[in-house]
Amino acid sequence: MLKIVVCVSGGGTNLQAIMDAIDNGKITNTEIMAVISNNAHAKALNRARNHNIPALCLSPKSYPDRAAFNEAFTEKMKKLSPDLIVLAGFLVAIPPAMVDAFEGRIINIHPALIPSFCGVGYYGLHVHEKALEYGVKVTGATVHFVDQGMDTGRIISQKAVYVQEGDTPEVLQRRVMEEAEWVLLPQAIDDIANGRIPLPKKNL
Ligand code: GAR
Repeated sequence: MLKIVVCVSGGGTNLQAIMDAIDNGKITNTEIMAVISNNAHAKALNRARNHNIPALCLSPKSYPDRAAFNEAFTEKMKKLSPDLIVLAGFLVAIPPAMVDAFEGRIINIHPALIPSFCGVGYYGLHVHEKALEYGVKVTGATVHFVDQGMDTGRIISQKAVYVQEGDTPEVLQRRVMEEAEWVLLPQAIDDIANGRIPLPKKNL
């Protein structure tokens, strides 16, 4: 059984897609141990609680500085000791020490076709604003492993989504979620849970 911790910051529609996929058997061999949000008001926390999944908030605002937050966050994760950490719309940089401790065991969903529209400042709705500003006709989503860089880790899967005439950032965001994100992320978790994408040996 693959034990996962899902990290979220907002709406939690990707978390919902994962929980639904576990319920309907599209993801097998997987248990969500906990959901962690940096934002106490994230709707994602309610989604987790409605599913009887332990949900907790760890906010950088509750710590004197980023180093103290990073340490607490990393310690919490080490205590939970999941097989896999899933960043599902988590908008906080993962502490370098956590990336080290969970090398090859953290995956992220990004709402664009990396290496386009990614890196510092490219998150959430901004990604779609930038894609529309540039005038691309195709965008999409990417699932990738997390390394010490920003959106630079090894790509697991990608799916293209067409931009349509008259798209607003909100409309495009929704289409990318429906057509790509909610498909790719559950699929990647199931592939990992069932050995089609191997994880490194656990060293914790
Ligand atoms: C999703 O579109 C996700 O790809 C994006 O934030 C949104 C969260 O939505 N993540 C990033 O931009 C990470 N760089 P959700 O809370 O409804 O899943």
